[in-house]
Amino acid sequence: MSGRTIPWASPGAQYRAHKEAIWAAIGRVLDSGVYVLGEEVERFERAFADYCGAAHAVGVASGTDALILALRALGVGAGDEVISVSHTALATIAAIIAAGATPVLVDVDENTYTIDPARIEEAVTPKTRAIIAVHLYGQPADLDAIGAIAARHGLKLVEDCAQAAGARYRGRRVGGIGDIGCFSFYPTKNLGAIGDGGMVTTSDPALALRVRRLRQYGWDEARRTEEVGLNSRLDPLQAAILNVKLPSLDEDNARRAAIAARYRAGLCALPLALPQQRAGTDHAYHLYVLACERREALAAFLGKQGVGCAVHYPVPAHRHGGYSARVRIPDAGLPVTERLVDRILSLPIYPELEDAEVERVIAAIGDFYRAQ
Ligand SMILES: Cc1ncc(COP(=O)(O)O)c(C=O)c1O
Repeated sequence: MSGRTIPWASPGAQYRAHKEAIWAAIGRVLDSGVYVLGEEVERFERAFADYCGAAHAVGVASGTDALILALRALGVGAGDEVISVSHTALATIAAIIAAGATPVLVDVDENTYTIDPARIEEAVTPKTRAIIAVHLYGQPADLDAIGAIAARHGLKLVEDCAQAAGARYRGRRVGGIGDIGCFSFYPTKNLGAIGDGGMVTTSDPALALRVRRLRQYGWDEARRTEEVGLNSRLDPLQAAILNVKLPSLDEDNARRAAIAARYRAGLCALPLALPQQRAGTDHAYHLYVLACERREALAAFLGKQGVGCAVHYPVPAHRHGGYSARVRIPDAGLPVTERLVDRILSLPIYPELEDAEVERVIAAIGDFYRAQ
């Protein structure tokens, strides 16, 4: 092993890159005496809505809450069905269940690992209310095809943008395309807080207002209520940190794309399925996920060479204890999902990853195959 271990993710490196500005922002919040919502949250909501090309953004406590509140604001609840995928962060499915609805999970496309539009229509029933399109790994889902199906059946289109802040679909930022967009600022995300945080984006003023009320017990401005809400507010310390980081997001995503291009150039001759980018999209490369045979052997070899990697995700939602009985999948099962979960491997990718480290990852993978 040569040099330090390369972690698969490194949120601490982002902090160090912005250290002084982050401490100044934290100081501003502490000095302000306003510790719930307030100016920093409002400023970040405005900046993030503009960034996404949405009219409104509402800061909430996490990406999971963003999805729960979005579904509730759309009127989704008990007895309803929401179509999504099993191959996603468990949070997507937890949110549907928390909103009171039943997740109906369909297969993903074998090239992009995002929801396969050809599988959606056969899952629609009279109870279906919404589709959650997950922009997995930072790759926008096939929004034109999904949007057409949603329009045909009168369904709402929710974008799960947790992994895709800054990605574009046909020139438009994700989160500003469907009826409503949901973001996570979990520390490893492309735009990461130093703790939990989330955002709901929409251009529908009534929907934005309902999320704004639901995030705070159901209160309107006069603290009257018409329905029951949560306590799920974006913390002003996190908003202040995100205000520091948002201006660098495009540059950070460009660096991620450059690393992805380097991986492609260095790995394309090996027996690996490398990520495929959908035409007309700017992938945010939250994760660089390849697929291969003997995944466990490769991961163990890389670990010994000081290269961290991870699997997103080894167990699909419909096979998780506690979830399997609460979701529905097609009678034919989810063959693409089942096949890929044993083959996928996420390599290190983050803006602070140095070129020499990328080359070390490529060399280590090459060594693995040469030793076969
Ligand atoms: C696709 C996806 N959806 C939702 C979430 C939930 O976000 P959070 O962890 O902020 O609740 C995450 C992140 O964990 C995610 O990756």
